[in-house]
Amino acid sequence: METRIAPFIDDTITEAARLILAAEPVAVPTETVYGLAADATNAAAVARIYEAKGRPSFNPLIVHVPDMAAAQAIGEFSEEALALANEHWPGPLTLVVPLRADAAIAAIVTAGLSSVGLRVPAHPAMQALLRAVGRPLAAPSANASGSISPTRAEHVLKSLGGRIALIIDGGPTERGLESTIVAATGGPLRLLRPGPIEVNADHSFGSAIEAPGQLASHYAPSKRLRLNAQSRSDDEFLIGFGEIDGNANLSASGNLVEAAARLFDLLHQADTSPFARIAVATMPEEGLGIAINDRLRRAAAGSQ
Ligand code: TXA
Ligand code: MG
Repeated sequence: METRIAPFIDDTITEAARLILAAEPVAVPTETVYGLAADATNAAAVARIYEAKGRPSFNPLIVHVPDMAAAQAIGEFSEEALALANEHWPGPLTLVVPLRADAAIAAIVTAGLSSVGLRVPAHPAMQALLRAVGRPLAAPSANASGSISPTRAEHVLKSLGGRIALIIDGGPTERGLESTIVAATGGPLRLLRPGPIEVNADHSFGSAIEAPGQLASHYAPSKRLRLNAQSRSDDEFLIGFGEIDGNANLSASGNLVEAAARLFDLLHQADTSPFARIAVATMPEEGLGIAINDRLRRAAAGSQ
């Protein structure tokens, strides 16, 4: 299959919607990372996501919808969930809520769970696609399973080239880090994955059972990765931060928003560099640094 990269213009959205309704997954930018989107009501279409990504089949997928009304047709929202949605949607927050009995979502999307991950994305390309298709879109990050999430159309091409028909190019993503995931399935809110939005909820992102997609190897580059580096050795590509400068710097001024947006980009750069190993400078364990360190620890664990 030939993979085409096309700019985010009306004609591309029309073509993408046609492909999706024909059960062909399409890569599309969101404000977090590029997603690989398929019609969430069509199990065969969703299965082609798994096929293209080579993803283990027990991972439930996030369902993207254009607005709150569409979300409430699929999931049951508690008062707390509703408050979070109203505060942060459209935006980089995923809410895991009980699946409505009458929701027209293919079981493969939730991997058979009775809960569903829902998100109203802010990116105009994803919004345009959702409205053109008129159906909810299941979309994991648009990379082969076990590799780094894509923040540019070229990353998608490198990872999934030959396996999908179309990549909508919306330039580099703004946030560069996957959405914050919060479970609102009864009891206190639980943070399943830290991300761009800080939410006051119990942390349970250490638990593999809560979020089966959070396998340690999920973010792994192909090279050995060392954390908390103060300097580089000869065979390392050092990803610096603040005053620890390296072959590249996440943010020379120590800005965590800038660092998050550049994280996967620099991991890609390090992974394709001539150096045999990767080292990453110490990141503060505060604010967005928590989410960045979470990704880095997974990358390090999966790379050994
Ligand atoms: O920013 C993002 O969230 C991106 C863009 C494309 O929207 N998507 C993304 O999807 O990161 P993915 O498939 O790479 O990660 C989805 C995560 C997985 O860890 C999965 O286990 C969790 O969401 N998840 C989805 N539905 C769930 C559910 N019902 N219960 C628990 N975890 C769920
Ligand atoms: Mg992913």
